[in-house]
Amino acid sequence: MIRVTFQGSEETRTVEAADGARLLDVAQADGQPLEGTCDGDMACATCHIIVDPADFARLPPPSEEEEELLDLAYNATRTSRLACQIRLTEVLRTLTVKVP
Ligand code: FES
Repeated sequence: MIRVTFQGSEETRTVEAADGARLLDVAQADGQPLEGTCDGDMACATCHIIVDPADFARLPPPSEEEEELLDLAYNATRTSRLACQIRLTEVLRTLTVKVP
């Protein structure tokens, strides 16, 4: 299990996710406001989240395609990622992300 903390504008919630789960699915199951319109085809950036700087380096790096899309995302920061591209693995143990 991986403990994922979502920091929203109004509340912070921590949920448990299974090994191998996609962050977008975990967020949507928790009711987080991530549209994920293209469902992982890297065509929308509506799944943009901001990873806690302490956790960012522990994730596998984004692909070039993901980085290009992030350049277009509203309010993107240096630790922005697309939730549809993040697979949660046991080695992470915990992950904290901000839902912009
Ligand atoms: Fe569209 Fe992630 S769901 S880019």
